[in-house]
Amino acid sequence: MSSSIEKKNNISRCGWVSPSNIALVKYWGKYDNQLPKNPSVSFTLSTAATTTYVTLGDAHNTGVAKISFTFDGKENKAFQTRLEKFLNQIGPEHLPFVIQYHLQIESSNSFPHSSGIASSASSMSALALCLCDVAYQMDGLEIYDDAFFRKVSILSRLGSGSACRSVFDSMAVWGKHDDISGSSDEYAVSVADEIHPVFKTFRNDILIISANEKSVSSSAGHQLMDGNPFAAARYAQANNRISTIMTALKHGDLQSFGKIIEDEALTLHALMMCSNPSYILMEEGSLSVIKKVKQFRAETKLPLYFTLDAGPNVHLLYPAEYETEISAFIFAELSQFCHDGRIIRDAVGNGPNKIL
Ligand code: DP6
Repeated sequence: MSSSIEKKNNISRCGWVSPSNIALVKYWGKYDNQLPKNPSVSFTLSTAATTTYVTLGDAHNTGVAKISFTFDGKENKAFQTRLEKFLNQIGPEHLPFVIQYHLQIESSNSFPHSSGIASSASSMSALALCLCDVAYQMDGLEIYDDAFFRKVSILSRLGSGSACRSVFDSMAVWGKHDDISGSSDEYAVSVADEIHPVFKTFRNDILIISANEKSVSSSAGHQLMDGNPFAAARYAQANNRISTIMTALKHGDLQSFGKIIEDEALTLHALMMCSNPSYILMEEGSLSVIKKVKQFRAETKLPLYFTLDAGPNVHLLYPAEYETEISAFIFAELSQFCHDGRIIRDAVGNGPNKIL
């Protein structure tokens, strides 16, 4: 997808909503250029999403990104600097117009800013969608086909690794794996057709245990994997777990699915604890929730499982048919551990939407 100033096709503004995603087998450790050390698989979410509009301004042709950026209607210089760096990185090789035209970027999240939810997956994928859309329109292309979403996934990955999985319906795999045809380290692929219907409507309630900024960022965490003595074993384990979870997802095997996602959450946090320097991102509330979930499952035999990303918040996953019983348990027993009782009720979703 190339674009040049001469080809500007009267496009001025476009907008996309892109969701967050929750990893079931986690990406943790990377090579240069945002290439993962192991494959990962995630559910695409629905409610937690970023809305982004990009307006194409005048040509400046300086070869250096020039943007104005607002988040929730307000300027945000820190994020603007990060975006300019990203645009300068992708411009020369992928999308020349981003360093040839002034861009106005307006962004907002569906979830509160201070909710402790990682927003890089939804925000970088929403931006990549808008940028590829502009490029497609400049080239006179209007069909949002597989090639379009592949390009979006590559650019999203360059912005934030996990973002490359957000642009597909229901579920995506990122990283080369023998069992997944067409899989690649450079972009994610949809595996929506490989999953049992029970997972298409899976619920994902996000328990906000803390709204504080993380003491160690994901980027720093990935880097610490380089010196982690368990790194090689971890990457082999992640490969094996992809095979096992794909089989469970295909057959609707809730027990195997639940075991892997919980093991993955605890492995991720164990890797943090044995990094050098070691660190802990779970809070007391995270542990209390985990223990209560295990106890609830033992007593009721209902398929309620937890996972965590690189922070203290706990994602609770379960089939939609058990929503009444499980919601009652969550509000009675678990909301006490949440910051201001905050819970984001989410579910597996259909991927991004073009809104303009
Ligand atoms: C624990 O995608 O946020 O959520 O590529 O440095 O932006 P960068 O990292 P990021 O890492 C996500 C880590 C994770 C696991 C996952 O989503 O697979």
